[in-house]
Amino acid sequence: MLDARPTRFGSNSGQPMTRRDGIAKVTGTATFAADNNPEGLLHAVYVPAAIARGRVVKYDTAAAMAHPGVVRIYTPENALPMAGDPEAKPFMFAFRFDALQNDVVRYANQPVALVLGDTLEAANEGARLLNPQYAAESPMVGLDGDDRFEGDGGGFGRAGATVHGDTEAGHAAATQAVDLTYETPEHYHNAMETHAVVARWDGDKLELDLPTQAIVMSRGAYGYYLGIPPEDITIRSPYLGGGFGSKAMVQGPQVLAILAARDLGRPVKLMLRRDQMFGPTGHRGATRQRLRIGIDDDGRMTILDHETLATTSAFDDFIEPASNASQGLYAAGALRSVHTAVRANIGTPGPVRAPGEASGSAALESAMDEMAEKIGMDPLEFRLRNYAETEPGTGRPYSSKALRDCYEQGAARFGWARRPLKPRQMLDDDGMLVGWGMGTALFAAPMFAAEGRATLRPDGTGLIETAAADMGQGAWTALAQIGADALGLPIEKVEFRSGTSDLPDGGVAGGSGHTATAGGALHAAGGDAIRQLAEIAAADPASPLFGTGNTGVVARDGRLYAREDDSRSEAFTDIIARAGGAAVVGTGKASRSPEDAAAHAMYSHGAVFAEVKVDPDLYQMRVTRLVGAFAAGRIINPRLAESQLMGGMIWGISFALHEAAVFDHRTGRIVNGDFAGYHIPVNADVHGLEVITVHEDDPHVNALGVKGVGEIGITGTVGAIANAIWHATGTRVRRFPIRIEDLLAGQ
Ligand code: MOS
Repeated sequence: MLDARPTRFGSNSGQPMTRRDGIAKVTGTATFAADNNPEGLLHAVYVPAAIARGRVVKYDTAAAMAHPGVVRIYTPENALPMAGDPEAKPFMFAFRFDALQNDVVRYANQPVALVLGDTLEAANEGARLLNPQYAAESPMVGLDGDDRFEGDGGGFGRAGATVHGDTEAGHAAATQAVDLTYETPEHYHNAMETHAVVARWDGDKLELDLPTQAIVMSRGAYGYYLGIPPEDITIRSPYLGGGFGSKAMVQGPQVLAILAARDLGRPVKLMLRRDQMFGPTGHRGATRQRLRIGIDDDGRMTILDHETLATTSAFDDFIEPASNASQGLYAAGALRSVHTAVRANIGTPGPVRAPGEASGSAALESAMDEMAEKIGMDPLEFRLRNYAETEPGTGRPYSSKALRDCYEQGAARFGWARRPLKPRQMLDDDGMLVGWGMGTALFAAPMFAAEGRATLRPDGTGLIETAAADMGQGAWTALAQIGADALGLPIEKVEFRSGTSDLPDGGVAGGSGHTATAGGALHAAGGDAIRQLAEIAAADPASPLFGTGNTGVVARDGRLYAREDDSRSEAFTDIIARAGGAAVVGTGKASRSPEDAAAHAMYSHGAVFAEVKVDPDLYQMRVTRLVGAFAAGRIINPRLAESQLMGGMIWGISFALHEAAVFDHRTGRIVNGDFAGYHIPVNADVHGLEVITVHEDDPHVNALGVKGVGEIGITGTVGAIANAIWHATGTRVRRFPIRIEDLLAGQ
């Protein structure tokens, strides 16, 4: 059999190329969904509920309709029918949503009407005049409600229980133990680009400009709700201004706008305001996590017991899977991770960048530090003492795990060896308290389904195609590098088409798996094209490669070479020309060998070291230095990977010190639902930030050896900062974000 493969590591991958879409973005020529203004466009505004629980009893529809430019108003009384049930969950990544199906209000900012206007101003004014009146009931928000249910593990976002070993024996065997409870708040995704859609119907066919993390999957979902075949929908999603999980799901406001466009026979644009992003578009649920760690006399963990209570909505069942963070990391004698949900009058939570692990490792890494402190052991030494050589619980080997190298390289770069064991030992020249802390980072390395197409054209250029999503992470660049390598062409000669649903399904940009997944599909597709080309050459007596069959060929720089004999080669263009000049089209799917998937545990790992400075009088906190060392398999583009990891670490700063939705428990409304009150880091909050990518060769994870870097940066960072703040001040804060008043209270 002919053994023709693209070289696994071509000349494009591994290069720190700049973003292919960078110039378009900085010059403003990149077209985001809401930049589309088709002829006859109507503007839609959704009216957010001003209460968190109750009913809408009255709308001033006549007053709103009387305003010039208001075209139509939809309320539950005249809501447009849907083919699919918004309360059903017929597919993965399906959440229940509100699309005016009744007059019940289940959370603040729930859509309770849609107003269409000739202009955005008219629609906004109509929405104001509509003035819904409510019969409000007392809402429940936060973690203290009584309506609870156990996680059952029954599918996406239904975190379950995982127990390995004899937990009672593990607790009993401990000679030292900690029993600690941490809290994390609700986070809202707050991508720079708010959710938007421009919907245009042509008969029963639908075109959507829509930012989505899963283009082809979204097409299927919208088809279900609208009652049309997915093939009749075209989704264009060339650029996303961030997603973070929120743009993977179908949500009510977008569906309402699409239904209105069909009903009115005109294109409709809806773009959410910033404050409307705090409700119907998902968020990270709040958690209360109890961590019990027990150790023996050698400092080895006999038990790691992690319980999570997490908020979920009144009508769906997503549970932040925070306890899962304790399943993959440390070699405890027994492991227990359980989840309970508490219902609240909030929009349904969902995946937010590093779902589970961000919140879970914030607690776990803090607890590890507290345990180390209790026995007077260096926190890094304590982690090394409990280093998992195989996956805890299952005993499976890791496909690769360079975590020890991460610890070593990160610690060396940071200067960890000079850290005093006790807190409140270091002052800088300005009299600031200085603290150093560290945390381990972990994130799974999944792969999903995706397809790709790769074409060798007769003119010597290539075309690679997959409906992938670039939400800012750099997919357009990294995937093009992989595709060009797969075709054996320099990247300048390869056109990359993506971001639209008429291409092969590029899968979901989520779970830190997009490069491995969509890249894997392109790699396979390129391999298929090269194999076809090699078969043509091998069968052609005029080719220098005639008869290469069993020795095989490799593709490089637009030529096929006989494997192990570089003197025999031929240009792609010549092979194609002699064969009649037709382009060679390859197809492929993302895959991971089932044997490897069963036999190996697959994770990216890292170690994050943090320095903070704290004012000894005012307790203002600054993260002055972060060093993160990450091992994530093969790095396709070091520049973009570093950028992803930095972005994650900055989110870690945000989690540790800034970010929280603050609820008014009387009204159930979020009081800081805007960028004035919802604090995310700005440049002034981010000081020394260093990323080390640690070499890791992984022969099992997939053909490319690629893991993922999108989410892991958050996971070790939060704990590292919390631990550094303890080290600076001697005060342990177990509620995130850590606030000045918490430190003052601890003095
Ligand atoms: Mo993400 S939370 O995997 O989009």
